[in-house]
Amino acid sequence: MQQDELKKAVAWAALDYVAAGTIVGTGTGSTVAHFIEALGSIRDKIKGAVSSSEASSAQLKKFAIPLFDCNQVDGLDIYVDGADEINPQKQMIKGGGAALTREKILAAIARKFICIVDASKQVDVLGKFPLPVEVIPMARTYVSRQLIQLGGKPVHRQHVITDNGNLILDVHNLRISDAVALEDKINGIAGVVTVGLFARRAADVVLVAAAGGIKVIG
Ligand code: 5RP
Repeated sequence: MQQDELKKAVAWAALDYVAAGTIVGTGTGSTVAHFIEALGSIRDKIKGAVSSSEASSAQLKKFAIPLFDCNQVDGLDIYVDGADEINPQKQMIKGGGAALTREKILAAIARKFICIVDASKQVDVLGKFPLPVEVIPMARTYVSRQLIQLGGKPVHRQHVITDNGNLILDVHNLRISDAVALEDKINGIAGVVTVGLFARRAADVVLVAAAGGIKVIG
């Protein structure tokens, strides 16, 4: 199967986790785009969705799924999102689509984070995929210098402004053996809005699509 077919298969499998009458947290990216389409097929059974990006909001509107503001909800039963890399501890690198800050907020308020990936996203050690960091524009060079001190090679993602009006630095050359420690360190740099390491709040359930079918890591 092609990668996009795997993404579609795993996205539709996530529908099993959607309970009737609930508000569903939706992530961002090409895998989630399939999930939103799947959600559209049961839109009369759910109350609506909270979105992690303008792109996902537009797609939710297209499928006439009612959109709720994050501040209108007490929490979320489930949050469904993809990842750029995921390790056996269910820790992830996210932010390839520059939506990491809102994604982290939805992951934080969700009782269950369901990560949907194709098998190519599974790694033993995080860091081959450049780690996205959302940065306040005036702090770009300061944060870059701090990231270099941590052993990384930050690259300013060109022509990208996040939904929050900030920049993305993609940090290359990292081999992340202690993801929680690195998440804390990078979050502690002045000017960093969010680091795309989801280690403190890892996924609860991972659905992995491979040629043989969907594997559930619970
Ligand atoms: C967006 C993300 C996505 O989940 C991640 O980039 C994976 O994307 P895709 O499903 O297109 O492979 O973190 O910020």
